[in-house]
Amino acid sequence: MQLIKTIDEARRVIGQVRYDGRKVALVPTMGALHAGHMSLIQAAGQACDFIVVTIFVNPTQFGAGEDLGKYPRDLERASEMCRLAGVDVVFAPDPDQMYPDEPMTWVNVEGLTEGLCGESRQGHFRGVTTVCAKLFNIIRADIAFFGQKDAQQVIVIDRMVADLNIPLKIVVCPTVRQPDGLAISSRNQYLSPEERKDALLLYAALQECRRMIDGGCRSCPELIGAMQKVLGQSPRIVPDYVSIVDAENLKNIETIDQTALVAVAVMVGATRLIDNIIVDLNKPDDI
Ligand code: PAJ
Repeated sequence: MQLIKTIDEARRVIGQVRYDGRKVALVPTMGALHAGHMSLIQAAGQACDFIVVTIFVNPTQFGAGEDLGKYPRDLERASEMCRLAGVDVVFAPDPDQMYPDEPMTWVNVEGLTEGLCGESRQGHFRGVTTVCAKLFNIIRADIAFFGQKDAQQVIVIDRMVADLNIPLKIVVCPTVRQPDGLAISSRNQYLSPEERKDALLLYAALQECRRMIDGGCRSCPELIGAMQKVLGQSPRIVPDYVSIVDAENLKNIETIDQTALVAVAVMVGATRLIDNIIVDLNKPDDI
């Protein structure tokens, strides 16, 4: 496995791989690797001959007062995990490689980024789409792998790729959970033991929603009310949003009669957690 720090070197090495006719996978990450990331790497290995993992804590997607400074950074640990997982290249540029100057060009996906996480994290998705566009241009992979855990993120990126005719296929991988149901997240490590228990209410709320839908309920206000009630069981949980939206255009819906995204974001103490399920009435449960 090669650890590459510069854009020139990444282009040279991966350019040769592409020239040799090999299929290149890209797994973009911020490096606090866990089982969720490893599932993307595994899916990448099944679909492609050459796996590139990027590790970059992207400053432009963090808002003022968010956790950019304390975001976990351990390149040695992450590289070792990648090596053991059969990754071919880790591309871990320093911020001045990716942003030698304050960018004048931003990629902004309108219509999909104002709601849900975009509402409380102003500018977040602009940072995500801009850095992903840059990484897509640098790595020039055939397929990029993203997690369903960040449902809005992958919907936004998928749209960016379509709108900008980027020659890249986006694959979405299921959310990896701990045995008790908590969606694995780099931010779970910020939780105290009590907060860790409270965090399970996100999963419980989504399960309750699923149960009600299976029981025939189609009313989104009713489903949202029931989820809010579950989250209300802990005074330490402050919901940011509990939403049911069309899974393509992310607009709020009143009744479930199409593919819906049920998405929840809460603060548990100082930690922001998100989780979601896709409800497709024609498909079996994903939770
Ligand atoms: P990061 O939070 O490191 O996540 C990298 C990828 O791992 C994302 O596609 C995310 O959806 C996926 N992931 C995280 N937790 C997961 C879980 N429990 N199960 C499955 N997949 C999971 O998301 C980012 O980084 C950044 O925004 C990035 C796309 C790299 C741009 O900077």
